[in-house]
Amino acid sequence: MARPRRVPPEALQPYLIDLPHPRSPRWRELRRTPVKLDWPALFGNDRPVHVEVGFGKGMFLINASRARPDLNFLGIELERKYVLLTAARLAKQPCPNVRLACTDARWLLKECVAPESVAALHIYFPDPWWKQRHQKRKLFTAEFAEQCARVLAPGGVLHFVTDVEAYFDETCAMVVERGLARQSEETPAAEFLTNFERKYRQQGRPIFRARFVKASVGIGRGS
Ligand SMILES: C[S@@+](CC[C@H](N)C(=O)[O-])C[C@H]1O[C@@H](n2cnc3c(N)ncnc32)[C@H](O)[C@@H]1O
Repeated sequence: MARPRRVPPEALQPYLIDLPHPRSPRWRELRRTPVKLDWPALFGNDRPVHVEVGFGKGMFLINASRARPDLNFLGIELERKYVLLTAARLAKQPCPNVRLACTDARWLLKECVAPESVAALHIYFPDPWWKQRHQKRKLFTAEFAEQCARVLAPGGVLHFVTDVEAYFDETCAMVVERGLARQSEETPAAEFLTNFERKYRQQGRPIFRARFVKASVGIGRGS
């Protein structure tokens, strides 16, 4: 997928965070010296931060960030072509509350995000990686669930949606084991559905969704 030609590269820069990528030749070295993300420095304000992991073509990220200028959004996506596509869409109608990270979210959450600093995590349709030899690419593992629980602020929310029932059951169990409380999740308005959810709904596939809340010591903000 080529970047739309009409958007000059410099217009994408405000959205992109410079981070190492697992396919970069210096990944082994750079992953050991992670940048600690400082939300107020990154966004220029101290509004609550929502993180979307694996945003794909960016439909949810773009629509949610436009609808909620009172929140900041970090999107993390492994595939550069999707990061550039989303940055180009954002640049066409400037959206100052979004930043994009092109890297492995498992590494970023663990190494670059401060504990209890995220108001909400959005994880929609992670690849199921059915084959045994691809299992190491799977996003939701016990370690990842641990990181989700660690980075969420008290009262913070993890939104999780998949079309794969076994993945759903396994993930729900892992997340609840880390102390987050499961609640039922309403289907959002059409504009807040991801590309995959739109496609799967048209195909009549079952969709499994849950929200998990981290126990609140005070009152959670903006999740
Ligand atoms: C099945 S797609 C779903 C895309 C989008 N969430 C949606 O619902 O339309 C999964 C996305 O997660 C990305 N992804 C997979 N593993 C990732 C990882 N470890 N870190 C960041 N992104 C990842 C893939 O590149 C892909 O774009």
